[in-house]
Amino acid sequence: MAREFPDECRIVRATVEMLPELLELEEACFSAPWTRKMMEAELTGNQFARFLVATVHQEVVPSDGTIVGYHCFWIVFEELRLMNLAVHASMRRRGVGRALAIEAISMGLAHAATRAVLEVRSSNEPAQRLYRQLGFVPVSTRRSYYTNPIEDAVLMAMDPLVMPAGSQQTRIAGGEGVIPAQ
Ligand SMILES: CC(C)(COP(=O)(O)OP(=O)(O)OC[C@H]1O[C@@H](n2cnc3c(N)ncnc32)[C@H](O)[C@@H]1OP(=O)(O)O)[C@@H](O)C(=O)NCCC(=O)NCCS
Repeated sequence: MAREFPDECRIVRATVEMLPELLELEEACFSAPWTRKMMEAELTGNQFARFLVATVHQEVVPSDGTIVGYHCFWIVFEELRLMNLAVHASMRRRGVGRALAIEAISMGLAHAATRAVLEVRSSNEPAQRLYRQLGFVPVSTRRSYYTNPIEDAVLMAMDPLVMPAGSQQTRIAGGEGVIPAQ
């Protein structure tokens, strides 16, 4: 059963002004983090990229919120590619990662994507469980795909792309806090 998306969270589009906060989160969450240049390119220079953040705040003013999670994904014609998903350690296991992933699936479907793919470190059991819960299945291994440390990637796919079972019951699919599809 999916956990409730926390009441105090909202998902909004990322802006380039959020770059310092995003980099801080990236560096806290990954052993081989994206650089500022890479992240800036995703935010400003990639026509396929979408970048969402989960913010937590008292007043409903997204720009004043603290970023607790982010998700960068690409919609490349019929394919949704989940690129980077991270949630602040203090906010994990509360449904934020799931909500960010569901929003990507929803946006992919709105743009006529028919399948989704992602790579995940072979040791990253929490993320693999999240993706399996959403309907992804492991399809192959990419040897020594990651650095620091060198590690295989598990390629996971969802084909056909569908909204995960039960996602209508979560807050993210219920309307409030959901950003409109581009
Ligand atoms: C992976 C990550 C994004 C999950 O975010 P999250 O907000 O904690 O995930 P959710 O609360 O939405 O969890 C959804 C499901 O994922 C699985 N899951 C998440 N964290 C888990 C953990 N530590 N152990 C086991 N399963 C876990 C569970 O199935 C969970 O459902 P449940 O809580 O109902 O059991 C987060 O742990 C993270 O940022 N990790 C570091 C960065 C990373 O590895 N990103 C993924 C790169 S591919």
